[in-house]
Amino acid sequence: MVTKQKRIRSAHGRPGEKVKIFITRDRIHRRILEIAKQIRQDFPEEPLLLVGVLKGAVFFLSDLARGIPGEVSLDFIAVSSYGKDTKTSGQVRLTKDLDASIEGRTVIVVEDILDTGMTLQYLLRILEQRKPKRLRVAVLLDKPERRIAAVQADYVGFSIPNEFVVGFGLDYAERYRNLQGVGVLSLKAQEKSAKSAE
Ligand code: IMP
Ligand code: MG
Repeated sequence: MVTKQKRIRSAHGRPGEKVKIFITRDRIHRRILEIAKQIRQDFPEEPLLLVGVLKGAVFFLSDLARGIPGEVSLDFIAVSSYGKDTKTSGQVRLTKDLDASIEGRTVIVVEDILDTGMTLQYLLRILEQRKPKRLRVAVLLDKPERRIAAVQADYVGFSIPNEFVVGFGLDYAERYRNLQGVGVLSLKAQEKSAKSAE
């Protein structure tokens, strides 16, 4: 019998790469709906602007947006961190800016994962300067052990241990984003340097 694990490898993996799913698509969907409900409870009357951080946040953002009742708009921003290793260099730059002003708006930054916190620290600093009415953060995953910058998310899907994960938008060298669940990626030692620069 072909196990689920083997099917995932043959569909998405490359030799030397292995993904072990530990958060299923159903769990993710349930949790995102809880967060969506919570966000609307916290801001019962307000139009909300969800700002998705490309590309990792796209699936989280699309489920979250559809789970929040009432007025919701979307915009996107993209950043890139210098350095291609699995360890972030800590230097971040904007590669795509928002389409519209956020002044006076209630903004929720939607990100795939909060790791060292350098990316969100940078983003929050530039978004804060644009004078939103409120600025909040929602992340699908949080790796608290890895934190360098003092950043906290207001809404967290799952707190996870310090492992490199892929799926549900998260990539390794631009691959695995389309996995329906989230899994731990294990690599043979010599292949560890090619991680996506995101
Ligand atoms: P931070 O700036 O270190 O918090 O990193 C945030 C970014 O690094 C995320 O938006 C991801 O693109 C990427 N990242 C961090 N950890 C992982 C992981 O385990 N898998 C895939 N991408 C990750
Ligand atoms: Mg990202």
